[in-house]
Amino acid sequence: MQSALKSRLLLKKCFFQHNRKSLLLQKYNSVSNINSSQGGGRSNYDNNKSYVKYIAPAALLSITGAATLKYYLDNQNKSNCASKVAPTKYSRDEVSNHKTKETGVWVMYGNNIYDITDFIEGHPGGSNKIILAAGGNLEPYWDMYAIHKKPEIISILQGYYIGELRKEDWIVEEKKQGPFANDPKRHPALIANSKEPFNAETPPVLAADSLITPNDLFYVRNHLPVPDIDVNNFNLHIEGNGLSKKVSLTVDELKKYKKTSVVAAVQCAGNRRSEMNPIKKVKGLSWSSNAISNAEWSGVLLIDLLKDLGFDENSKDVKHIHFEGADEDPTGAVYGASIPADKIFKKNLPIMIAYEMNGEPIPRDHGFPLRLVAPGIVGARSVKWLKHIKLSDKEYQGHWQQNDYKPFSPNIDWHNVDFKSSPAIQDLPVTSAICYPPIESVFDESEEEVVLKGYAFSGGGRGIIRVDLSNDDGKTWFTAELTQADQDIDDMYSWTLWSCAVPIPKDHKGKMDVVCKAVDSSCNTQPENVGPVWNLRGVLNNAWHRTNFKIEKDDD
Ligand code: HEM
Repeated sequence: MQSALKSRLLLKKCFFQHNRKSLLLQKYNSVSNINSSQGGGRSNYDNNKSYVKYIAPAALLSITGAATLKYYLDNQNKSNCASKVAPTKYSRDEVSNHKTKETGVWVMYGNNIYDITDFIEGHPGGSNKIILAAGGNLEPYWDMYAIHKKPEIISILQGYYIGELRKEDWIVEEKKQGPFANDPKRHPALIANSKEPFNAETPPVLAADSLITPNDLFYVRNHLPVPDIDVNNFNLHIEGNGLSKKVSLTVDELKKYKKTSVVAAVQCAGNRRSEMNPIKKVKGLSWSSNAISNAEWSGVLLIDLLKDLGFDENSKDVKHIHFEGADEDPTGAVYGASIPADKIFKKNLPIMIAYEMNGEPIPRDHGFPLRLVAPGIVGARSVKWLKHIKLSDKEYQGHWQQNDYKPFSPNIDWHNVDFKSSPAIQDLPVTSAICYPPIESVFDESEEEVVLKGYAFSGGGRGIIRVDLSNDDGKTWFTAELTQADQDIDDMYSWTLWSCAVPIPKDHKGKMDVVCKAVDSSCNTQPENVGPVWNLRGVLNNAWHRTNFKIEKDDD
């Protein structure tokens, strides 16, 4: 830390000698202006592949912007005085140990290192967002918020330059072994609940920023290693009752069918499970409230495909449709699930075989090349790496259909559970959650209100008609403003985002509790407490969501 400070001071001195303060630098009180030999736009945060994925497309997208940036950086390099000061070198571990205000907050951009501790509070995009990059690279975040990739902002960053990553740490080769060795790279902002298999949720501070979740931040629920599928050697097999023969289709053949797009949320049954633990410990991944995300899925409606294959909709011996993925355990057992046929034939849910997610081929973590997307139905049935569809008179017999993802009464526990006594979860109940500001955020008592943001969602195509928030445990309610997809309220598969200004009660000091609850198009609403919905697997927690803030007197 000492040497970092020393080199910053030296660089500040350099800067003032050259008197090169831009208007923006003045605005944000940045003082030095340094480029190291590595340049400011190159990423090695992941590996070379990630460089291509994150940086190259951004550069290509804005040729003019990139050219301006290059001109700017080149000219800075020509005249800056950094060359007279040997840059201090740090290891990647040292950088990653600087994540808090106490240690100092360091970030990397390319191979350059910046101590941005003093900038955090003044960050125009909020201190909660910038802190996500603490100890790591900025590129994965700046690719999402591309507004940063302009000379003015690079200038601000350069004001905080403290040194460079030592050469041996430039490329991180993750030498993974075992069945998960070939899993894809993931965005560093994802909050992992388990690494193998990979399960992670969207960071709450980013979740309610846009109606469509960017692919990189979409929550991930994997049961097994991610298959690495060669699309040129891949076939989707369809067979069963009501079909005269087995059919195998390549992805290109599937793409010849009518393309349909639908915005739909996918939610894990265990979303908000962690809130059940204080009642009684539950077994399962300790999901917080962001095991749910929203995307535009494109592909072929299952009903269109089946009709084209000559399927008879009135066939009496098709009660369930089975779906199996290409992900398999060491014994060769694959992940599979089934959905009652009536969901498609009577309820007209737009169940589809998707090949695109937000306009791109579905990323590997989300099912490349094909994923069943079952809008309004629990995520466990939206089978990824979809390989096999079977029309049957019986429900799927696999583990995750028969012995998991089932709801039980709070008085059932592992000693008296009979999984056969409960149906498999299909439609999801109405839920909502507060995503922003983060729990325990501090507000000054002079502020009159807190603006909260979050999501609401209900299964079966039931749209959200209202979200209410209360700052006195339900005595007074404030109604939120809703942002929704362009979908009919009785045919709504997208989540709803909401925002609401909740007043800070006059003279309130200390902890301020806020709760939210949503109402869907069937006027279903959420239960007040978790207790009555507690269940041994910790699924379907849709109680009022609760957060709290600290209201303090500002001593300044
Ligand atoms: C040291 C690193 C960073 C610097 C110097 C920086 C600087 C800035 C500046 C100057 C703006 C205002 C841009 C404008 O209005 O033209 C801004 C906005 C913003 N920043 Fe950052 N930022 C940094 C890191 C981050 C990170 C890591 C994130 C996300 C995780 C982030 C998210 C945002 C967002 C969401 C906005 C608002 C964008 C908008 O209003 O459209 N920033 N930042």
